[in-house]
Amino acid sequence: MQNLKNQAISSILETKNEQELEELRIEYLGRRGQVTKLIKKIPSLSPEQRKDKGNLINETKKIIEEAIISQKKNLQHQNGGGKENWFDITIPGEKPAKGHLHLITNAIEEISDIFKRIGFHSISYPEVEWDWYAFEGLNMPENHPARDEWETFFVENLKHPKYGQAVLTPHTSSGQLREMQRLGKPPIRMLDIAKCYRRQIDTSHAPMFYQFEGLVIDQGVNITHLKGTLDFFVKQYFGPQRKVRIRPFHFQFTEPSFEVDISCIVCGGRGCKVCKQGWMELGGAGMVHPTVLKNGGLDPKKYTGFAFGWGVERVLMMKYKIDDIRLLFSSDLRFLKQF
Ligand code: FA5
Repeated sequence: MQNLKNQAISSILETKNEQELEELRIEYLGRRGQVTKLIKKIPSLSPEQRKDKGNLINETKKIIEEAIISQKKNLQHQNGGGKENWFDITIPGEKPAKGHLHLITNAIEEISDIFKRIGFHSISYPEVEWDWYAFEGLNMPENHPARDEWETFFVENLKHPKYGQAVLTPHTSSGQLREMQRLGKPPIRMLDIAKCYRRQIDTSHAPMFYQFEGLVIDQGVNITHLKGTLDFFVKQYFGPQRKVRIRPFHFQFTEPSFEVDISCIVCGGRGCKVCKQGWMELGGAGMVHPTVLKNGGLDPKKYTGFAFGWGVERVLMMKYKIDDIRLLFSSDLRFLKQF
């Protein structure tokens, strides 16, 4: 039996085409084939032999069948395949889909890079912050109504003996005090990009979003430096045709304070239904309040500074005309693949 099996397998492996293989199949497994003949004899064997020999013959049949199937595939492959398996090996393969970084990650990198070119140092201050850094030290004492605008998430049962209640920071302005404390003295040129949290959600507000906060403090810093920095960023990020304007506003931690607008991306500044008479609001800015400088350990008689804080998602939405902030957090590939 062993000889029959070995002989069959080596002949099968030597076949050069499907015709030869078919001839061998008939020789071993056909109606009058060698293995078939042995199978037919099984019933005439004694009961003791029937089991062992019967198993051996059936196993040999199975091995020969498998060898034929495998050799058939080899021959088809060598000859360029059978009709149904034929394929053109010169057709380029299918490339696996290649992803890309998320829009927000790209925007953070781009914004950091623009400010780096004019000497800003990038940093990320904590998302879970003490009240003093987020409010009190920024000239917003406890119970001050201005705090309501920040619609803050408070962290229960976590309080610092000196800096107060823990909060999920509602803005990156908390980074201003941390940077003053870290460096101890000017010059300061900080760009703090970090996550912020507020109890808000609609087409332009997310409960978690990114802000980027610029802070420059030195001797003789004034509003023209602020305006020049904003112009530089806006032209680099949105394109050279964009203009910036600053409007009087109120923040507790800057004096004077401004809202910053850029000329509308949609109508180019002529006025349309998306903008306010040709202008779109970008975010807040102002000259650092003397009390904030003092709280950061700096002498307001010697130093002045400016600060601005804008939403990363908002500038991104303006650049690409995205009309719902929630799309940025939806992980919907139909949306993400467009960028
Ligand atoms: C502030 O947060 C001030 N800290 C900004 C500032 C910094 C002023 C330094 C002066 C000096 P405001 O609440 O307006 O300001 O938020 C600033 C920007 O953050 C907004 O213009 C918007 O772009 C973005 N923003 C605010 N809330 C959300 C939100 N829920 N979702 C997405 N973006 C938001």
